[in-house]
Order: sequence, then C-alpha cells, then structure tokens
Amino acid sequence: MDHYRIKNLLADKPIGKALEVRGWLKTRRDAKGNFSFLEINDGSCLANLQVIADNSLANYETEIKRLTTGCSIKAAGNIIESPAKGQDIELHAKEIEIYGWSPAESYPLQKKRHSFEFLREIAHLRPRTNSLSAVARVRSVLSYAVHNFFQERGFFLVHTPIITTSDCEGAGELFTVTSLDYDNLPKSGGKVDFSRDFFGRPANLTVSGQLQAEIYALALGNVYTFGPTFRAENSNTSRHLAEFWMIEPEMAFCDLDRDITVAEDLLKHMVSYVLENCGEDIDLFDRYVEKGLKVKLEDILSHDFIRIPYSDAIDLLDASGRDFEFPVHWGADLQTEHERFLAEESFQKPVVVTDYPKEIKPFYMRMNPDEKTVSAMDILFPGIGEIVGGSQREERYDVLRARMVEAGLDIEEYEWYLDLRRYGSVPHAGFGVGFERIVQFITGMANIREAIPFPRTPGSAPF
Ligand code: 4AD
Ligand code: MG
Repeated sequence: MDHYRIKNLLADKPIGKALEVRGWLKTRRDAKGNFSFLEINDGSCLANLQVIADNSLANYETEIKRLTTGCSIKAAGNIIESPAKGQDIELHAKEIEIYGWSPAESYPLQKKRHSFEFLREIAHLRPRTNSLSAVARVRSVLSYAVHNFFQERGFFLVHTPIITTSDCEGAGELFTVTSLDYDNLPKSGGKVDFSRDFFGRPANLTVSGQLQAEIYALALGNVYTFGPTFRAENSNTSRHLAEFWMIEPEMAFCDLDRDITVAEDLLKHMVSYVLENCGEDIDLFDRYVEKGLKVKLEDILSHDFIRIPYSDAIDLLDASGRDFEFPVHWGADLQTEHERFLAEESFQKPVVVTDYPKEIKPFYMRMNPDEKTVSAMDILFPGIGEIVGGSQREERYDVLRARMVEAGLDIEEYEWYLDLRRYGSVPHAGFGVGFERIVQFITGMANIREAIPFPRTPGSAPF
C-alpha cells in the first residue's frame, strides 16, 4: 500500500484511493456512535489529516481509545471526501497500528500554547509544535533558495574549513580547538606549547569562511560558501548566537556597488521564494507570531533598499534629536539602537550603510581615496538591525600590507593572503548574510534562538 506524506495527500486529494499515512497524533476526539476522530500530523506540512476510526477495528477499544497526543501511529484506509468544514478529505481507517505510546501524564506538550522559552528547554520535542515545525520547514526552504540563487547565476559552492588558524574578523572571539590535556599542559617558557598540540599550532573554529572564499574567487570567479561559523562573543541578546550559519559569496572583478546589488537580490529572492513555497507556514506566523508579517515581507520586495554613506547616516542620527544610550559621533560604530532607528524610523525599509571609518572595520576592506573610510557596507533591516556585512576587498598589495601591520596581524601567518595580491590580484568583493537573522526576520520570531534547531549561547549548549 502506498505510504503518503500528508502534504502530497492534501494536494492530490486522491478520493477513493487506499493508502496509508504515518505520523504523530495531535488529538483524539471520541464521537457518540462508537467512532473517533484522530488528527495526525507527519511534519510534511502544517495541516493535519483527519482519520476516522470506528469500532469495526479490532483494536478500537483496547488501543485506539487509549491514544493520546504524541503517540506515533500508522493509519491505513480509504480517502473519502470530508463532510466536515475546513478540510476536503479524510481517511477512513481500515487498520491502525501504534508504533509508540506517549504517556499523557508526562508528555510535556499539552494542547495549549507553550511559551518559546519553555519550548527551548525541550528542544528535542519542540519541532513537534506547529510553530517550530514551521520554522524548520522555512529554514530548509530558505537554504534551498540560497543554493538555487547562486547556482542559477553560475556561482560555485566552496566548502571552506570549519577548523582554521586564522581570525578573519580580527575580533579575537575565537573558540580554541585543541586536543591537549588540560590537566597536563605542555609548557615552554611558562606558556602553553602549542607546537605539541594536534595541529602543531593554535587552531580555532572559523568565525567566517571569507578569506578562504577569496582564494577560490580568485580562481573560479564567483563562489559562495554557506556553513556554520562560531563566535565566542559574550552577547546574550535576541540577535546573537555563538554558533550561526553564514552565507558568504565572493566575486572577482566586482566593486562595492555590484556587491550591494547582489546582496539585495539575494535577500529579496529568499523572501519571495518563501512566500511562494511556504504560504501556509507564513500565514501561521502572521496570525500567531508577528501580526502583519506577510505585508512586511511583501513590502521588502516592492522597494529598492536605501543606500547611504556612513557619514550621512551619522548626520541623520545627530539631527534626529534622539537621546541614544550610545552617543553618536563620526568614528563611533553604529549600535543596534542606531541601526534600528535608521531602518525603522528614518526610512522604514532596509538601509545599506556604506563607507565606514577604517578604524571600526577589519583589515581586509578596501581603502577609499579619502584614506579615512573603507569600501564597506552593512545592510540594516527593520526589527533586526544588521543582517549583512560586506565590502570590496583591498586588492593592492602595499595598501593591504600596511593595513595588516596597522591592525597588528602576524604578517607571516597571512603570507598566503598577501600572495593573492602578489599574483594576479583583481578587484573583488563579497558579503556575509547572517542566516538565522534572515530566518528570524522571515518568521517574525522575536528571538534568534527560535531560528536555529539547537541554539548555542553563553552558558547554554544542551543537546
Ligand atoms: O559582519 P560580519 O562579522 O561579517 C563577516 O564575518 C564577513 N567576513 C562577511 C563577508 O564579508 N564575507 O558577519 C556577517 C553577518 C552579520 O551581518 C550578521 O547578520 C551575522 O553575520 N552575525 C551573527 N548572527 C548571529 N549571531 C552572531 N553572533 C552574529 N555575528 C554576526
Ligand atoms: Mg558586521
């Protein structure tokens, strides 16, 4: 007998066909006249399938009437037109098999709505809820949208390393990777002797695949990497994770202007792809998570992003007369409150801030002719703040080297990066999209911890 996924079943509506579905019980309701309504969900979509089980089934009294939320079952029977409102079809069961019971006394998911905080504590069961299963589906569809966007445009996927010996962002927020015995550390001159560590030198989890993506861009032209990145940033906010996924394209023969255009196109593609393919899930978020979400998403598609140089943004913030917690002045980094003011109040749409002071940006960004600012861009979204960070890269050997010295980098460790400027250097640019931040924006979730299956944050890495 054909095993059907509920999503396909509801789309095909094969009335009269004998088939089976497998999933988890949402509810059981017993009707007068010795039959029961079972609502089954199999995770393929938000909708449940209604199954009618009656006392002609051999296990009706012994098992079916004992079914509770969370039990896993197989229901085999015929698809019939449903007389009930709100659904077109239902399954008239000829056989119900129970795979696993789910004791009602202890099953943590009740019929009522649970808080997202509570659900985080049971992250092994939260994908069985409507909202978190919807997030999981949207996240998967979004990953696919990222790949089809780049693949259709001739970009090659590069798997950049997870373990590295470089610090792309130079922020020192590194998780060390070691196999040394902490109770018996090899020392030399009072310091840990990393020459005796696994890699013969200090190593860490990557904070960004950019530097390695640059290597491949300068050979393959247009590339992208999409993988996990790690930052030991002690920020316990609703927008920070210690482990997050980043989408990082890198393009040879590309300037900042085109870099921004590609980023805008990518973000719009992700939004429109989800609207086209996850309508039901988006409707759920619109109803229960963020009112007006769908309009917000459609709005993103219908406007050009605003582009504004950092210096003008500072003037704008200054002129706002706002009493910001962090004072605004030229040279200071934009804080979340400033970013959100620009995107939510000044422009009420995504804003691309360009040409930041060189002091507040990493060494690899291309120096502008004013020698004060670099060819950088951050894309700020309403409700989120920074969602993308990118730049044109410094392709001039001398300028890059001087910047690295200024930044205090150990030049010897980065000779390979300088080689890319010694041998066939070209103007190139790229950016990084925080994947969970865009998932957060698209699902309307208030906290980024709902945008990833297993959030890792300071003091918390269960499962
Ligand atoms: O601005 P960032 O630090 O840029 C880079 O790492 C560049 N190397 C990217 C590139 O040019 N290839 O990070 C990029 C994005 C941010 O805009 C933000 O959306 C996200 O990554 N991000 C985080 N998301 C969740 N939790 C954190 N702790 C994040 N830190 C950055
Ligand atoms: Mg940034």
